[in-house]
Amino acid sequence: MKKKLSIHAIKKAKNERLLTMITAYDAIFATLFEDSADIILVGDSLNMSFGGKPDTLSATLDQMIYHTNAVCNGAKNTFVICDMPFGTYNSPRAALKNAVRVYQESPADAVKIEGGKDKAELVKTLTDNGIAVCGHIGLLPQSVRGEGGYIVRGKDVTDMERLIEDAEAIEAAGAFAIVIEGVKPEVAKAIKLAIKVPIIGIGAGADVDGQVLVFSDMLGLFEAFTPKFVKKYMDGASIVKEAVSTYKKEVENKSFPANEHTY
Ligand code: KIV
Repeated sequence: MKKKLSIHAIKKAKNERLLTMITAYDAIFATLFEDSADIILVGDSLNMSFGGKPDTLSATLDQMIYHTNAVCNGAKNTFVICDMPFGTYNSPRAALKNAVRVYQESPADAVKIEGGKDKAELVKTLTDNGIAVCGHIGLLPQSVRGEGGYIVRGKDVTDMERLIEDAEAIEAAGAFAIVIEGVKPEVAKAIKLAIKVPIIGIGAGADVDGQVLVFSDMLGLFEAFTPKFVKKYMDGASIVKEAVSTYKKEVENKSFPANEHTY
């Protein structure tokens, strides 16, 4: 049976093998991902693909805890990270109170916090208090309204230096891994080389220590838009639509339920 990775094993993977992270929001998919995923992220992206909202900002801590429990129920042998939603870590005190809730009300192995240098003190407060933290730098979806859009980062040397400083600050604060989103690949590579903990990329090219994708994107289930960095490993939307359409036809022509589906 698969053994859940420890924080030590995740850190040790750097320079040994690449890590595969995928999001999940419920037990059904978490169970399906368990064989292949090193880490499952209960991302606040669930607010968009699961909740149908335009961005992640209205996800609540109660929702994150509910979905984290569902994922942990489905993937008991996988390291699970719960995203701290927007507004739940505005100060070290608030972050600690809310991250303690995640640990007390779910079996999550770690939490994820968006932000760089500005969040380092807060990350240190969590790690000093026994909470494992995955950082998240680069394009920050929780800042979409404040910044007026999803802006690719690392387009010039100044921004590259800023991102390296962000990663260094989060690492020094005790994060065991850092997600880096929406940055130029050469910048992601520079950060990977500068930092000792694994750098998990999304829209950050191949020169990182692992990749993360939102499951509904990579399974082709989310049709509203497809970011450039997403590879659709199947056309989930067509498969589901086809299946439900066949079901409808069979209900209407009474070929379902057949004898074998009847008590
Ligand atoms: O919420 C999420 O799914 C994430 C990934 C984009 C890394 O944070």
